[in-house]
Amino acid sequence: MKSALIIKLIEAHCSSSEETFKKAVQDLATDEERKGNVGLSSSLVNAYATEKKTTASVTSSPLSEISFSAQGILPTPKDKDSALELLELLQPKVRLDDVALPEKTKEALLQIIEEQRKSNDLLSKGITPTNRVLFCGPPGCGKTLTANAIAGEIDIPVAYVRLDGLVSSYLGQTGTNIRKIFEFVKNKRMMLFLDEFDAIAKKRDDAHELGELKRVVTTLLQNMDAMPGNVFLVAATNHHHLLDPAIWRRFNTSILLELPNSSQRDEIINRFLAATLTEYKVDIKTLITLTEGMSGSQVCNFLQTLAKYCFMQNKNQSITKEDVANVWIKQSTLFINEDSDAYTRALYKLNKSGISMRALEEITGISRSTLSYRFNKEEKSDEQESEKSSLDS
Ligand SMILES: Nc1ncnc2c1ncn2[C@@H]1O[C@H](COP(=O)(O)OP(=O)(O)O)[C@@H](O)[C@H]1O
Ligand SMILES: [Mg+2]
Repeated sequence: MKSALIIKLIEAHCSSSEETFKKAVQDLATDEERKGNVGLSSSLVNAYATEKKTTASVTSSPLSEISFSAQGILPTPKDKDSALELLELLQPKVRLDDVALPEKTKEALLQIIEEQRKSNDLLSKGITPTNRVLFCGPPGCGKTLTANAIAGEIDIPVAYVRLDGLVSSYLGQTGTNIRKIFEFVKNKRMMLFLDEFDAIAKKRDDAHELGELKRVVTTLLQNMDAMPGNVFLVAATNHHHLLDPAIWRRFNTSILLELPNSSQRDEIINRFLAATLTEYKVDIKTLITLTEGMSGSQVCNFLQTLAKYCFMQNKNQSITKEDVANVWIKQSTLFINEDSDAYTRALYKLNKSGISMRALEEITGISRSTLSYRFNKEEKSDEQESEKSSLDS
């Protein structure tokens, strides 16, 4: 290391000026990177970012509660016209155990993490670790969270890019901006995370912008092909069927994250209760039943609403099934029409899970006789369904 830079670093530390110190760390890291000591350069930046995490205020990052933004330490690429940052540098602290996933998916992720931890050894032997990973699946099922958990496990920073933002704001400049992003990560030990990856594919429906988009896709493909093996690329999409087949082929592996099953919901619920509703007694089984069909994100929202309800109502210690049903119904009517079959079906499910007709009447304002009539119809269709499936088998 250059002695002049180290002296500057010490002086900056003694001056107690955060800005001067940050600049000195940055100069030292940039100098090491220029000399080809990419690992050391990243370590310097990480050391500062990790240390700062304990004192940093919450950033505006969408992942702020789980990460620290190292933005400002490394000069990040910007859009030429607007001067807006093209990516956000994050240092995720979230771990794989924070994500509720099926065992098989966890195993696949652990394998990727192990390979990435040994990335340098593998590359030096001419073996490429799994380094192009695509996460697919419906919204709110943990794609962004899982990508961050992988980086957290490997302990590398994330260069976070939301492709939808990138494409819509600066379409004319998108090709150039993509090149700048790939150039930025090229020699760094970090994860390049392209979130909302379908933004480029989706836009192809728009004939108006077709020519420009084709060029953007080509640029993306060229950059992916030219990317060295040490760069760990992760992409996430809600609409994998929209992706160009040529893009698909560039990934070593794709991982589908689906709606959480009962044991994953159990995990999410337990973690939430242990962190937030510690003093309350809740019937976890009811919560598991009522959250069927929800994404991980919807389960978390539902639990947040339940916690708010408990605190606002000054509930002491015990949360009844009726409390849970009350919150559930209020939350569902935000997105299910009260006259719809889905709503009746949901109330029927509540009744089956032990919520009395009287409680349902009180919460919904629908008379018990109307509810009975509707539930009878549900029961009949259930019976027909089970007869049909027994005939089929
Ligand atoms: N499988 C899961 N385990 C734990 N929490 C989850 C899971 N899926 C979603 N969540 C919660 O929902 C939030 C949003 O999920 P996110 O990763 O943004 O979904 P996606 O990227 O698939 O749309 C997460 O930050 C987390 O709080
Ligand atoms: Mg996401």
